[in-house]
Amino acid sequence: MKQLTLIGLVISLLITGCAKEDDIDDKNEAPSCNILTPTDNQLIESGMYTISCSFDDPEGNVASATLMLDGLVLHEFSSGLELHYTWDLADVESGWHTLKFIVSDNGGKSCISEIEVIVEKSVRFSIDIQAIFDLKCVACHVNLNPILLNTVSYDNLMNGGYINVDNPEQSVLYQKVISGHPGGSSYLSAEEIALLLKWIVYGALDN
Ligand code: HEC
Repeated sequence: MKQLTLIGLVISLLITGCAKEDDIDDKNEAPSCNILTPTDNQLIESGMYTISCSFDDPEGNVASATLMLDGLVLHEFSSGLELHYTWDLADVESGWHTLKFIVSDNGGKSCISEIEVIVEKSVRFSIDIQAIFDLKCVACHVNLNPILLNTVSYDNLMNGGYINVDNPEQSVLYQKVISGHPGGSSYLSAEEIALLLKWIVYGALDN
């Protein structure tokens, strides 16, 4: 009997507790929010990427809709139910990043949608690799051996047997630059050499 009374007491406490909470928050419902693209764990390659988000608030009182990248504000949306932001990956490092979409309403409630993406910046021959040739190679290779000039460099390298996609480190081009050509072991920086190798490892694309 005592036990039953105790259970009854607990239940009535619970009911009044819930009722009280309802009174306090004056029935304002939290907004909902979603990052539609990219999706969790998605691989994103360099260039521009369109991030799409959506949100909804039962009362239609959204105060802010903010996109965060690794804890810093990437973009503050101003209006609309479906939102797009063109993300320029130029300054984003390769590796894992956190994207968070936070929507707050005027009643102090908010929603967070969070995903992880991996950014893998591909090497672009026409931009990254040709830039190395232009800066460090063509001064000599313009008359002597014009293989590295812009617009003809790709075909020359591929047809001339300088690139070995199956065994990238054995490529004549790579061997030439790591041997210190054209004089001095630090003629190309470690980053430039790594970029050349990466380009070959990724399939020596004409991109
Ligand atoms: C100071 C002038 C000079 C610069 C700068 C230079 N080269 Fe050379 N390169 C030469 C000369 C001279 C030869 C021919 C003799 C030899 O093979 O070393 C040559 C030959 C080569 C060859 C072999 C060509 C063949 O058909 O066998 C490759 C590949 C090459 N260079 C790549 C490069 C790259 C890549 C760069 C820029 C990172 C570069 N060179 C910068 C002077 C230069």
